[in-house]
Amino acid sequence: MPGFSTRAIRAASRVPDAPQPPVNVPIYATSTFEVADAEELAELLEFARPGHSYTRYSNPTNEALERALAELEGAEAALVTASGMAAIHAAILSLLRAGDEIVIPRAVYGGTLALARTVLERSGIGHRAIDTTDGEAVAAALGPRTKVLWLETISNPTTAVADVATLAELAHSRGVLVVVDNTFASPALANPLASGADIVVHSTTKYVGGHSDLMGGALVGSAERVAAARGILVNAGGNASPWDSFLSLRGLKTLALRMERHSTNALAVATALQGAPGVAAVRYPGLPSHPQHELACRILRGGMAGGMMALELQGGREHGERFLGRVGVAVHATSLGSVETLVSHPASSSHRQLDDVELAAAGMGPGTIRVSIGLEDVEDLIADLVGAASPD
Ligand SMILES: Cc1ncc(COP(=O)(O)O)c(C=O)c1O
Repeated sequence: MPGFSTRAIRAASRVPDAPQPPVNVPIYATSTFEVADAEELAELLEFARPGHSYTRYSNPTNEALERALAELEGAEAALVTASGMAAIHAAILSLLRAGDEIVIPRAVYGGTLALARTVLERSGIGHRAIDTTDGEAVAAALGPRTKVLWLETISNPTTAVADVATLAELAHSRGVLVVVDNTFASPALANPLASGADIVVHSTTKYVGGHSDLMGGALVGSAERVAAARGILVNAGGNASPWDSFLSLRGLKTLALRMERHSTNALAVATALQGAPGVAAVRYPGLPSHPQHELACRILRGGMAGGMMALELQGGREHGERFLGRVGVAVHATSLGSVETLVSHPASSSHRQLDDVELAAAGMGPGTIRVSIGLEDVEDLIADLVGAASPD
């Protein structure tokens, strides 16, 4: 009879049959999967047969999230990753190589710009940052080396809304592919593949998860494009954790409800802040004063505009810092898309890579505050944020 340790390891590894399927997807907390022979493993590692070999390659919990996101984005396939940045990195490296160029919005998430300036530059991939709300500027920027036009459905943090359908038509006519970061809208408000995007990426850390308790990312597109991105991810090692995929699956179940409440809360807060003492401007796509309000109404589902807004305070950076120190219901923290309202100062956090000139070009001032409206009672939020913005 084998010794106790041998028996314990075997006994504790037996996976029970579950004839009645669980209501929730189990967390497959395993790095590796037992195979029958060397041929099976070799084929699994090449994705030449269905199944799983090693969690860096694939995992059933991750696969469940991939299938769910593909379905909700109207895509053939999806790939989930360790973070939004891992998805962005895999998407870009699967489409560009040394000598190529990517065109990105000036008002892009700071992490995407930092990736372009560090990892991509070192790899010989150039980038050009332009105002992607200006169709002529986009047409002028697409050159012979351009392989990808990068867009954000709603930009971080200035909330510029991208006309994906028009820009995708232009890009495709020049042989350029379009990737859209759909993090701010989430799959509940927009499906950019239907407007012509070739790949859509998400930070699932944000609205998909929705509770500030996970890190994850995803990209969706055709089976061929997703397989190419998986090839990058497997070798670069940016796989999702099944624990975090479980939380993302749980988040997806309430995403529509949360986006509805984020949107109604945000519209009420933005309306109250507009013209409140100390507030110079509020940029929220749900407000008629927003430059792309009509486009937002057209492309965002159900007339909702999500929970993100940018706030310009009259007193610049000093006023912004005082605002952050005064909030009580809202939490001063980076990140977004969660049940709690989060406020941050892009110039010193998500966009710290930009100097004042670049901040201005991206539509931000040194005192711009990014607000991610949560699901709290709206009267409490209005009192908190209007009070914090007051100059006295
Ligand atoms: C629009 C957008 N895309 C991508 C990311 C990166 O996501 P992660 O922090 O999950 O890597 C963020 C993070 O703030 C974001 O706001």
